[in-house]
Amino acid sequence: MQKENYEKYIIAGLILTVILLASFSIAWIKEPARMEHLSEEIFKESALRGREIYGEQCAFCHGSTGQGGVGPALNSKNFLETASDQILFETVSAGRPGTIMPSWAQKNGGPLTDEGIRDLVSFMRFWEENAPEVAGEDFIPDAVRGLTLFNSSCFICHGENGLGGSIAPAINNPSRLTSLDNDWYRGVISFGRPSKGMPTWGTVLAPNQIEDLLALIDAWRNGEAIESNISVSAMINSAIFELSQGEIEDTMFFLDRAEKGAFGPIVEEFETVRSLLDENDVDEAFDQLVRLSADWPIGVAEEGEDVYADTCSVCHGSEGEGNEGSRLNPNDFVNSSSNSELLAFILSGRDGTAMGGFQDRLTEEQIAHVIAFIREWQDGE
Ligand code: HEC
Ligand code: HEC
Ligand code: HEC
Repeated sequence: MQKENYEKYIIAGLILTVILLASFSIAWIKEPARMEHLSEEIFKESALRGREIYGEQCAFCHGSTGQGGVGPALNSKNFLETASDQILFETVSAGRPGTIMPSWAQKNGGPLTDEGIRDLVSFMRFWEENAPEVAGEDFIPDAVRGLTLFNSSCFICHGENGLGGSIAPAINNPSRLTSLDNDWYRGVISFGRPSKGMPTWGTVLAPNQIEDLLALIDAWRNGEAIESNISVSAMINSAIFELSQGEIEDTMFFLDRAEKGAFGPIVEEFETVRSLLDENDVDEAFDQLVRLSADWPIGVAEEGEDVYADTCSVCHGSEGEGNEGSRLNPNDFVNSSSNSELLAFILSGRDGTAMGGFQDRLTEEQIAHVIAFIREWQDGE
């Protein structure tokens, strides 16, 4: 019987195995470095894409280098160090209810994909290392702002004045309010009770907004009646949000509320949205509602003249020529902003400047008239 000589194959096989093992282990030794390099590359590319989106969508309000403008500074050490990627992502996705910070995620009716928002987060992270310390403004929690927010974000479940609804219990409930302190309320509001239908607000609201809600809770605890006169724009925004979620009934609810407080020629447009919804033309209703929200509020220029003279002319000059405040006759910011953006701006003012918010001093209607009045100074009017 002839014996096959396998020996040379065995040796060749062994050598090959050794070579293979060696090259694997070299690759294995190099892997972490390679992965790190790769993820750095991916991060950089994502940040570059984010920069592009930032320039187009965000710089207008937050400043071209994130230094702040109508919106707060984002290029700020304190802010970036305390906000996790998830918080940034959620904030940009959902916007800030009751403010002009819009929701950007497509799932919330905005223009950006989740990937685009992740790219923005990468871009903002790029600032962190060299971000300046931005001094926080002195923040004083305010129950009236709290109520405005409550009316746009909470009362659909917790009812008028927090007295309870069919979905959620009363918050304005003396026996609970006296036995539970604000730390407890802060915890429930921030973390929610998702399994029981109470949303997690800590990723949607700014910490200051939660403090405003606690100021409201304080006022209720002390039996004070708080009234907020500004609500139509917040109601319209809530209606948009509900419609983007396909919640027709809730959309109608907010639409009704908004219409109740609405004034001026735009009131008819609520009817248009309503009939589009009745016809189940959700897309058209959505577009119409978004237009309505940008146009809101429409006031009467003649009536704004007095409000302007009493409230604004000290700083902006009787003919809008500017003084301590900017020239408004004409003014690029006014020219390029929608009515709803100007309303939000005049309500909240600009941090760190003499332009304070008029939230507590003027009604939404008075501001509408002032906007109509200063629009007459702009190009093409
Ligand atoms: C129309 C103006 C406007 C635009 C456009 C805008 N923002 Fe904002 N943004 C705001 C305002 C106002 C706030 C503050 C809201 C508040 O009072 O909590 C804000 C808040 C934020 C915050 C939270 C900051 C903080 O201190 O808690 C982040 C993050 C943010 N915006 C990111 C973005 C990004 C990213 C974009 C672009 C996709 C963008 N914003 C576009 C107005 C705007
Ligand atoms: C989608 C409906 C919904 C919305 C919107 C909502 N909540 Fe709630 N909330 C609930 C439900 C349901 C509970 C009761 C949960 C339970 O049974 O433990 C609750 C409980 C609470 C509690 C605890 C009350 C108690 O005495 O135990 C507080 C405080 C609260 N919500 C505050 C808020 C605030 C502030 C907002 C707005 C920023 C808000 N909620 C928005 C549904 C909602
Ligand atoms: C106490 C002074 C003061 C009063 C009162 C005041 N403003 Fe201003 N306003 C300012 C200052 C200062 C600025 C510029 C802020 C800055 O440096 O960014 C400004 C900015 C503005 C801007 C933005 C202009 C731009 O180019 O960015 C508008 C619009 C505006 N004010 C409208 C009003 C209206 C309307 C009223 C009355 C309801 C009013 N202001 C009342 C001081 C004031």
